Formats: sequence, C-alpha cells, structure tokens
Amino acid sequence: MDLQAMSKKFTDVFGEKADGLYFAPGRVNLIGEHTDYNGGHVFPCALTFGIYGLIRRRADRTLRFFSMNFPEAGLIESSLDSLIYDKKASWTNYPKGVLWAMGQRGVQIPSGFDFLINGDIPSGAGLSSSAALEVLTGLAVRDTFGLALDMTDLALLGQKTENDFCGLSSGIMDQFASAMGKKDSAIFLDTQKLEYAYVPLALKHSQIVITNSNVKHSLVSSAYNERRQQCAKALSLLQTKADIKALCDLKPEQFEQIKGVIGDPVITRRAKHAVYEDDRTVRAVECLKKNDIRAFGQLMNESHISLRDDYETSCPETDLLAEIAWSVPGVYGSRITGGGFGGCTVSIIDNDAIDAYKAKVDAEYEKKTGKKADIYVASVGDGAHRIE
Ligand code: GLA
Repeated sequence: MDLQAMSKKFTDVFGEKADGLYFAPGRVNLIGEHTDYNGGHVFPCALTFGIYGLIRRRADRTLRFFSMNFPEAGLIESSLDSLIYDKKASWTNYPKGVLWAMGQRGVQIPSGFDFLINGDIPSGAGLSSSAALEVLTGLAVRDTFGLALDMTDLALLGQKTENDFCGLSSGIMDQFASAMGKKDSAIFLDTQKLEYAYVPLALKHSQIVITNSNVKHSLVSSAYNERRQQCAKALSLLQTKADIKALCDLKPEQFEQIKGVIGDPVITRRAKHAVYEDDRTVRAVECLKKNDIRAFGQLMNESHISLRDDYETSCPETDLLAEIAWSVPGVYGSRITGGGFGGCTVSIIDNDAIDAYKAKVDAEYEKKTGKKADIYVASVGDGAHRIE
C-alpha cells in the first residue's frame, strides 16, 4: 500500500494532516465454517491484505468519509447525531454502525472526525472486508478519543454493527480474526466462551493458497440468515432431547442418536453440518499441532463436501475449484472458505505443486465457467494495529 499517497490524499480531501494511521486485516478461515453462530470452534487467520485508515479528530459533530477504493462516491458526510442506516451512504454505513454500536454500549464519542480509507482486500470475495472496516473504525476511534475498549470489545462491536445495523446475522469469527490475528499463526477460537489459542502455522514446505472464484452472489445475506434460522430451529427441537445451549455442544454420536426429533430432512442436514464441522475443526487443530498436514488437508476436503451437500453454501464454481485442487498431486486440502455462495477457496499446497495447481486452474476454470479465477499465495499477518 502506498501510505504516502494516502497521506497526501487525506490532506487534499480534508485540508489538514491526519492524527493517526491504522490497519485492520481481512481473514481466511482454514476450517470451522458456519460453526461460529452455533457455539462451535473456528480456525481463521488474519491476512496481510486489509484496510488502512487515516483519521483526524474534528471540533464539531460532523463525520466526513472518503474511500480511495470508491473515489467516485466522493466525500460522504454525516453526523454523530444521525447514525442511522442509509442505503445511499454505501460503505460508510459500516463506520457509522460502529459508532452507533458504541453508543448502544454507553460509550460516548465526544466529537466527529474525518476518515479516509484505502484497502487491498478483494471485495465480495468472502475475505471479510466489512469486518476489517468495522475493526479498523473501532480501533481508530478508540485511540483517537481514548475510549476504554479492548480488542475483543472492538470485535464484538463490529459484530453488533453487522447484525443490528447492517442486517447480516453473522457470528464473531471475522471481526475476531481481524482484531486478534497473529503473524504466521491461526486462531483456534471457541466462539461460545471467546477463549482462544494461537497455533503456529508451521507448514514447512507448503503454502496457504486462496483462489477467488470471482462469483458474487447477490442473495448472500438472505441465504446466510436463512441458514442461521434453520440452525436455530434444529437447536430448539434437539433441546427437547438434550441439555445443550448450542448445536456444537453435541458430539456427532449424540447427534446421530437424537436427530430424529428434527423431522425435516433439510434442517437435519444443516444441523449435521454444524455438529460434524465442529468436530472436524477440533481434530484438524490437533493434526496441525502434530505437523500432520495430510490429515489436516483431508479434514478440509471433508469440510467442503459437507458445505456442498449438507449446508449447501457452495456453488458450482467453488465446487469446480475444489475439484481441480483435489486432482493435483501435492495439494493437501482444499475447501470453500467464508460465508459461501461464491467467494474463495482456501487450499494447502506443497511449494512444488503450486505451479501445477495454477496451470490447471488456468486451463480449466475459465473454459468451464466463463470467469477468470485469481490466485493468491496468502501471507498470514497480525491483527489490527496502529501504524503511526
Ligand atoms: C461469514 C460470517 C462469519 C461466519 C462465516 C461462515 O464470514 O461473517 O461469522 O459465520 O460466514 O463460517
């Protein structure tokens, strides 16, 4: 990122220099998909892709926003006194939502600010650009006004923004990964207790490879919210048979014994995914700790199949990318990552096999889908922080 160009733009747009420069990363989830709103485990890591933000405190209550990613939207103005969702306010609904969420928590912001952002996360790819923007805003505002909030609070405020301001009933994974990421480690997070451990990504001779299908599903939020409702329905039925708080409190064997109470086959498959995916995630982390990348990759493949067949959040393009990956020797595992319905796959690939994988995607993906895939070798970075 050209930080000098950002500083210059800030002065051009707002007339003065910024007080601080901040960064919040996107994330990729290695395994543990659609478990975070089911009280389960996730295993994401923060990327070195992210969003940078420059902020300057103002004396009045005005908020002024500018994004170098959407320069055509120009300068967008608002006020601390009108923190309401407005479709026309486009991307600024996220920072406004964070301020609203702070207010809901009783955290008062004394004055407005100018905020300029520039990001390098491919948007709509399922790499959590919105979570990064929420965490970035929370951090920049916290530091600028000296608010008593820790990084977990910032993740929770971001989730509240997403859920209650922007209308996506997401879990905590994305914001937590953006706030709490650690270089070269993945975060093993228990989303029910918010307890976590960093697991070093000692992949030795292999890399995490992200492949963007470039499919953006327009109904992501309604389909996502529907999955969440189906899980809630399954939980209320299973609770008549077991003393559980969340679907992921069940082990697969227990689930098999009582699943009959659900009745509906679609809802049974949704619950099955959540229960088995949580079990896979816990086992996958054990495999990684033992440096067993093959077994880890095998669990990633099983995760994809479950998302494809039981949870139905994959799509033909991401299925094709996973199948291409599975057919290349030296690919340990590959699966769709994130909320789904398009977006990216994540794969663990031996260094010696990356070129063969790229060549096979180039040869087959566009021919079969009419779209071009983008492939990135991921670097795992730190969570949100102040740069200067
Ligand atoms: C989206 C949500 C997360 C999580 C994933 C699926 O990224 O924001 O909370 O539910 O989907 O694992």
